[in-house]
Amino acid sequence: MILSAGIVVVRKETKEWKYLFLRAYKNWDFPKGIVESTEAPIETAKREVKEESGITDLNFRWGDIFKETLPYGGGKKIARYYIAETSQCTVTFSINPELGRPEHHEYRWLFYDEIKKLSPKRLLTTIEWANSLINQNRYESFIKEGALKNISISREWRAAAEAISKESGIFLVVGVPDSGKSTLSRYLIHYLTHASRIVALIDCDVGQTHLGPPTTLGMMLYTNPTDTCDTLQPDHMRFIGATSPTGHLLDIVVATKKMADKALNLGAEAVIVNTSGLILGVAGAKLKLNKVDLLCPKYMLALQESSEIEHLLTYLEKRHTVSTFRLPISEHARKRPPEVRRRFREEKYREYFRESQIVKMPFSQIGPQGYVWCRERNVRIDAIKHLLLGLCDSENYLLALGVLQEFDLEERSLHILTPLSSKDGEKVRAIQLGEIKIHPNGQEEYVHGGKNLPNSIPN
Ligand SMILES: Nc1ncnc2c1ncn2[C@@H]1O[C@H](COP(=O)(O)OP(=O)(O)OP(=O)(O)O)[C@@H](O)[C@H]1O
Ligand SMILES: [Mg+2]
Repeated sequence: MILSAGIVVVRKETKEWKYLFLRAYKNWDFPKGIVESTEAPIETAKREVKEESGITDLNFRWGDIFKETLPYGGGKKIARYYIAETSQCTVTFSINPELGRPEHHEYRWLFYDEIKKLSPKRLLTTIEWANSLINQNRYESFIKEGALKNISISREWRAAAEAISKESGIFLVVGVPDSGKSTLSRYLIHYLTHASRIVALIDCDVGQTHLGPPTTLGMMLYTNPTDTCDTLQPDHMRFIGATSPTGHLLDIVVATKKMADKALNLGAEAVIVNTSGLILGVAGAKLKLNKVDLLCPKYMLALQESSEIEHLLTYLEKRHTVSTFRLPISEHARKRPPEVRRRFREEKYREYFRESQIVKMPFSQIGPQGYVWCRERNVRIDAIKHLLLGLCDSENYLLALGVLQEFDLEERSLHILTPLSSKDGEKVRAIQLGEIKIHPNGQEEYVHGGKNLPNSIPN
């Protein structure tokens, strides 16, 4: 196996990180080169960065940790990347003695979004790894608390984690409300990242969600055991617009499938799907059956006290090629009454909208549910004020939530309270309507099934 070593060189510009990317012909890569037999890989990496970019100011502030790619080049090569910060902005290409000219044709300092677009697939997991490391401070408060503090782990949970750490694919965590699904998912992420697996978590619980604000379905890629499973800023989100899956089964199933595909494309080896507690009754069974049908998970991790979901598990095992780990519910699992759940959500909204501003968006971006607003002359603002909105990009991923403040018929614009940055504001292509209003104090008000909204189907 041929080992190359290089460095993901990053530089902070204003508040955001930029990555140095080099192009030789049409191939983009970080500075790197083959490790000589006499050289330590980190020395090769430093030498290559100096030769290929002229950068010598390197601060290995995250330590000498590194990420290796999967074998490429016919399975004969592996590249290892370290990560370092620089304050040098200027890049100079020097003449490569063997070529008689510089090795590279172009360099760029790129933001995370930009580098992902240019990157070959082989480097995507390296980029994700670097991104989660350099943005770690946003998790600091959670890390201090210790990801697994206060969690009790049974022998069965440990055995299941050990077994799936050797497998790849999709793993579905199921159980009734408060059975410990989120706790188990968090433990699995921790266990698998410790086993050097690249893992993604999809949180399908739109009410008591841990990835992103309530009403959304979030996905996060993990390469580092210290990353938190509780953040308002996951890597990707979809907008559901309600705090319960009931009435939104289609949106949830589609969003989960899209997220699972995305996670696998980004290089996730294991995708943990933390499902909602809706599993009993007709709606619950439909939701889980369709999810299994579409996602084809390798295993279900089913939390049961006795046999409350056994009928569903047996049916799924017979009909689909999915195996199940039947796991006990911890004696420490606590039931949370609706009032506690509501307070959890309201705290999340308050935190999410804390640093928001009002932006104006044209009527033309409103999704089909709100189309008629733009034509009706008699829309009453008090009927729609504070309505929750999903500001989505061209692929229908959620860029940010918004709360409707004004509906300006003269300007033909919506005034929306949102934490969206002006840079991301330009990416908004669709405004989806939620099913709830969020009042300034974070309080939720349901506008049942949109029935209290002005007529919402174009004629
Ligand atoms: N193994 C455990 N050790 C300690 N506490 C636990 C354990 N399992 C669950 N709990 C506690 O029980 C409560 C419910 O657990 P959790 O949130 O994981 O359940 P859930 O199934 O995800 O719930 P929901 O249906 O709301 O999504 C939480 O307060 C959690 O801390
Ligand atoms: Mg949960």
